[in-house]
Amino acid sequence: MSGHSDVVVGAQFGDEGKGRVIDNNLEGRNINLVSYLPLKFQNFHFIEDMAYRYDINARFNGGPNAGHTLVYNGMPLALSGVPSGVLYNHIELYVGSGCVVNPVKMLAEIMKIKSLGLPLEGRLHISDEATAILPSQIFQDEITGGEIGTTKNGIGPAYADQALRSIMGRLKNIRLSNLLDRPLEARRDLIENYREVARIYGQECGDIASKADEAMAAMDQLRPYINRNPLWLDDMVRSGKNVLFEGAQASMLDVTKGTVPHVTSSHTIAGFAYVGGDLAPKYHRKVFGVAKMIMSRVGNGPFPSEFGGLRSEQYCDEKFCDPNDGKTKHKHVKESEEKDYSAEKMLYSSDPFEVGIGLRMLGKEYGAVTKRPRRIGMFDLVALMHHCRVNGVDELYLTKFDCLHDFAQTNLPGIPIVTGYSLDGQNIRYLPGSNEMLRKVTPIVEYFPHITQDLSGMRDKRELPKEAKGLLKYIENYTGCRVAWIGVGPDREQFIKLP
Ligand code: IMP
Repeated sequence: MSGHSDVVVGAQFGDEGKGRVIDNNLEGRNINLVSYLPLKFQNFHFIEDMAYRYDINARFNGGPNAGHTLVYNGMPLALSGVPSGVLYNHIELYVGSGCVVNPVKMLAEIMKIKSLGLPLEGRLHISDEATAILPSQIFQDEITGGEIGTTKNGIGPAYADQALRSIMGRLKNIRLSNLLDRPLEARRDLIENYREVARIYGQECGDIASKADEAMAAMDQLRPYINRNPLWLDDMVRSGKNVLFEGAQASMLDVTKGTVPHVTSSHTIAGFAYVGGDLAPKYHRKVFGVAKMIMSRVGNGPFPSEFGGLRSEQYCDEKFCDPNDGKTKHKHVKESEEKDYSAEKMLYSSDPFEVGIGLRMLGKEYGAVTKRPRRIGMFDLVALMHHCRVNGVDELYLTKFDCLHDFAQTNLPGIPIVTGYSLDGQNIRYLPGSNEMLRKVTPIVEYFPHITQDLSGMRDKRELPKEAKGLLKYIENYTGCRVAWIGVGPDREQFIKLP
């Protein structure tokens, strides 16, 4: 009997809390429940638990632009390349050919994980078909990425080089297999690619030889983790193993389906799990979509439900002309610069821009590494429904549901939720395909009754106030997806499973 595969994707602009949802699914649902249920129910839960058990956690897109922090033995563990299931020793980890891998960063992450005593040899399998992120691509992203507000990890240039393949006998798409199988030629090509970027953008080349040596040395140490059999995952699933695919970034940042050009450079949607994840779609079972009740976005680009609109976008990523070289540069406010504001005062303001600041402060919506403020917006049902359909979401996981309580401290008549868009006088229920049109839509906002009770201590659906239950029903009807789980606080156990 072959196994099956499920896919977790972020259904908004990223940072929805996917790591938590993955963690929750990998742990083996109901294991704790089983121990205290009366015997006659145990079989039922055991069967459900079997069905949800995964043996492999796989990534299929993106690279070190992803990131979340797990806590292990009280120590923070920041992950950006290794799949989130690393803390569960029984789970094998796979990095598919659709990912881009920076050997230096990947090696540093592996070392960090191993230093915590977590085993990786024989457990972590990185596809040799994945494209390497090399110094030329990071160099290029540093020069050009500001316009999009990229993470400067070389993601876009690496995927662009993948598509360019080879130019006049020089590999643009240098894959992990090339670094291992023809290291001299790969090193020569990566240096030439770097020089080309320097030439095009009029930059100094610097000491490219030592950068190349660093990448090659890291690759050599990665050797034990590189998977040389492109059918490995297929073999595993054929033999009965179950896979949980973990999407990086989010649906609205997809290179084609997102808010182009303000997107990442990979396919982030569930369908791509069956390209970049190296498994055929015949094993697919379910898509889990993760959405955050108070939306956020980092970087530039349209965000129709943003509190404070363009003003917030500019505040979170201010462009300025550097008098030293006359170039446009980007500066953003840091968490520390907002810390002296009173969140309560901001929330009660009649200015939506300030309400957004208050929500950001209370929700701690700042980049984990960069401390960039995330732009904050209302829960947008049009966008969510659109992306539930694009991904074929079966079950929704709604994080930060408890944060809706913050709206009770505003002077708004209820919880504001976008339930429609008006475009050139017409009501529409989809995200227009162009950024220009998306910037023109006026969100139609409905106010839902405030949730005045603190939800953070609740663990059972029956405890939820009627306002919360009513809202959940509305979301299910609107999106056509069952809500399977809501997060009610940052701790692992702060969630409610909805039967
Ligand atoms: P890149 O993926 O580094 O090229 O960045 C492209 C856009 O995607 C930028 O707006 C980034 O802020 C955004 N982005 C990339 N990775 C993430 C993520 O993991 N969460 C949220 N936004 C992301």
